[in-house]
Amino acid sequence: MSRIQVEGLTKRFGEVAAVDRVSLDISHGDFLVLLGPSGCGKSTLLRMIAGLIEPSNGRVLLDGRDVTFAPPRERDMAMVFQSYALYPHLTVERNIGFPLRSRRRPRAEIRQKVHEVAELLDLADLLDRRPRELSGGQRQRVAVGRALVRDPGAFLMDEPLSNLDAKLRTATRGQLRALHHRLGSTIVYVTHDQVEAMTMATRVALLNAGRLEQVGTPTDVYDEPASVFVAGFLGSPAMNLIPARIESRAGRVQALAPGVEVPLWAADDQPAREVTLGVRPEHLIRVPPASGSPTSQSPASQSPMFRAVVEMVENLGGEEVAQCVVGDARLLARGPRPLGLRPGEPVVFDIPANRVHLFDRASGRRLVWQPTGADIPRDRDQVTVRVSDRPGSPGATDGDPTVAESPEGVLDASIV
Ligand SMILES: Nc1ncnc2c1ncn2[C@@H]1O[C@H](COP(=O)(O)OP(=O)(O)OP(=O)(O)O)[C@@H](O)[C@H]1O
Ligand SMILES: [Mg+2]
Repeated sequence: MSRIQVEGLTKRFGEVAAVDRVSLDISHGDFLVLLGPSGCGKSTLLRMIAGLIEPSNGRVLLDGRDVTFAPPRERDMAMVFQSYALYPHLTVERNIGFPLRSRRRPRAEIRQKVHEVAELLDLADLLDRRPRELSGGQRQRVAVGRALVRDPGAFLMDEPLSNLDAKLRTATRGQLRALHHRLGSTIVYVTHDQVEAMTMATRVALLNAGRLEQVGTPTDVYDEPASVFVAGFLGSPAMNLIPARIESRAGRVQALAPGVEVPLWAADDQPAREVTLGVRPEHLIRVPPASGSPTSQSPASQSPMFRAVVEMVENLGGEEVAQCVVGDARLLARGPRPLGLRPGEPVVFDIPANRVHLFDRASGRRLVWQPTGADIPRDRDQVTVRVSDRPGSPGATDGDPTVAESPEGVLDASIV
C-alpha cells in the first residue's frame, strides 16, 4: 500500500516559491507523471516527497501518516535519478544489492533478491560487469534494479530516461510501463517530455512556475486542457491559440478574429467576451475550393472558417505541417502527407464543433464548451452547449489553489 498525499506543499528559496501550494492525492498503484518546463519545480516537489528537502509549508502523508519531516529512510520510497548514481567500482550485482547490504540483510536473501530483480530487468548476464562496461540503457536498468530490490511502496523517479538516445528511450518507456503493470506499485515520475507523460502515466500533473495547472489522465489533459498553459504545452506542434472575441451575431454566437469566424451555438443574448480560441493543428480540416469558382464558398459555408494563406509546409515523413497566416495570427495545420498545400496559396479550414476550445483571455482558464449527448454532430443546431468558467485560476492568489475538477456554470447557452 502506498498512497501519497501532498497538501498545500510549498518550498521557498528566498523570495521565490519554487513549489507553490501544491496539493495532490496519489492513489496506490498510480503512475503519476509530474510534467512541466524546466525550472517549474518538478524536482523540488519530488524531493520534498522523498524527504530530501524540507518544505516551507504544507504536509506530505504516506498511507495517511504524516511524514513531512521524517527522514527518507522512514518513508518506504526508492528514488531513481537522471544521473543513475551507480558506484563505478562495484559490479552490477553489488550495485543492485547495495540497499540491502546497507540494511544488513542476510547474504542469502540479498543474493536471491538481486537475482530476481536482474531476471526481471534482463540484467542476469551482466551481473559481473562494472558500470563503465554497460550501455546507457543497461546502466539505467541497474539504477531501477537498485530501487526495485528494496521492494518499496513507491518509486520516485526524476528524469530517469533523459540520458538515453531516442530509440532506447522508447524501448525503456515500454519496459517501465510493463514493470508498473506487473508490480502495481505507486510511481511518481518527473519529466519535461510530454511523450513520456502521455505514454506512461495513469495521471499527469502539470506544473507551471511552481503551481499546479491541471491533474488528469493523459486523455483528459490533452482533450480538455484546463488552461492556456496546458493547451500550449501539450501537442506537437502545440495547440493554435488565437486571441478572439465571442459575441452574438444574427442569432448565433461566434468566435471572431481577423480571418476567423467560428459559429458556436444559437443565441442572440451572449454578452461579448474576450477569449483565446484554441484549435489543435490535427483538427483543422481543409475545405476544398468549390470547383470552377475559387472565390465562391463551399457547401460548408455554415461551418466555422479559418481563411488563411499558406506560408510554408514542413515534411515530417508520414505527415506534413502547414504554417499559415490568419489575419495577424499564425495557424499550424497538421495532416497526412501530402496535404496538397503550397506556399502562397489561400486556404480555408473547417473544424468539428467538439474540437473548439475556448479560454478566458484574462485568467487563461478553460471555458467549458460542452455539447451534451454522446456523439457530437457537426451541425451545431442539434446540440446543447454550456459555457462555464472553471474556478481555481492560477492567477488567483486567494483561496485553495488546488485545481478544481468541477465546472461552475457562468454562461449558459441552450439550443432547442
Ligand atoms: N537549492 C536551491 N536554491 C535556490 N533556488 C533553487 C534551489 N533549487 C531549485 N531552485 C529553483 O527552484 C526552481 C525549481 O527548480 P526545480 O529543480 O524543482 O525545477 P525542475 O522543474 O526540476 O526543472 P528541470 O526540468 O530543469 O530539472 C528553479 O527556479 C530553481 O532555480
Ligand atoms: Mg528537475
